[in-house]
Amino acid sequence: MRKVLITGAARGIGYELCKIALSDGARVYGSVRTQEDADRLHAEFGDDFTPLVFDIRDRDDVAEKLTQIDALDMLINNAGIIGPDDSDTTTASLEAFSDVFEINTFAPLQMAQLLLPKLKASDHPAILSISSQMSWMGYAKSDHISYRASKAALNKIMQGLATDLAQHEIPVCVVDPGWVRTDMGGEGADNDPLDVAKGIWQIAKGLTMSKSGKFIRWTGEERDY
Ligand SMILES: NC(=O)c1ccc[n+]([C@@H]2O[C@H](COP(=O)([O-])OP(=O)(O)OC[C@H]3O[C@@H](n4cnc5c(N)ncnc54)[C@H](OP(=O)(O)O)[C@@H]3O)[C@@H](O)[C@H]2O)c1
Repeated sequence: MRKVLITGAARGIGYELCKIALSDGARVYGSVRTQEDADRLHAEFGDDFTPLVFDIRDRDDVAEKLTQIDALDMLINNAGIIGPDDSDTTTASLEAFSDVFEINTFAPLQMAQLLLPKLKASDHPAILSISSQMSWMGYAKSDHISYRASKAALNKIMQGLATDLAQHEIPVCVVDPGWVRTDMGGEGADNDPLDVAKGIWQIAKGLTMSKSGKFIRWTGEERDY
């Protein structure tokens, strides 16, 4: 049975990913921030789902909670925030910038570092991180600049992680989910979160070293960084 950790399980893409992974026979650890969400999801998903309660910014607590995981095949870094929408670079609050980077950029790296021993012991390991088309360097737009920058930095870190983990045959990739109808994406977004989760799960299950270091659309095609 494949063992998977998905961060940000309480709603949005992460919630749908948990559903899809469980329906495909995986054993799922899902990170949530409240005991209420932990109880809700456990009641809905059953005993193949183990909630882990932590805020991804609290590094010591994350490290402690991850000791509950005995073995792991796949890490899906999904939790994220959009941050301030008025983050014009000339006036942006560095505190707000820092918070967005803590959640979107540093936390996924910490998760990978902490879980590396378990992933090295897996026969079919994989690390996926949900990025965004807003990371693309071809856009000169500056709205949500902290979000754009945090995801561009996430891409670079995960590309480097792919390089460093090649010797251990652990594939690492980043995924562009498109624009998705969640609390973050809003009602007018293009894509249904369940469809996107199904696409991401197919990428996760089929991730091999030939795709490591790539930026992949939720529909499966490689795209430019
Ligand atoms: N929606 C889109 O159009 C879109 C487009 C491109 C990329 N993405 C990316 O896709 C991923 C999922 O987005 P979504 O649309 O599903 O967002 P969402 O509906 O807003 O859900 C975000 C999830 O992240 C969790 N989270 C936020 N801050 C956290 C923290 N400090 N510690 C732990 N968990 C935290 C939330 O937990 P709580 O429920 O406890 O708040 C929630 O489960 C994100 O990385 C996002 O950047 C989304």
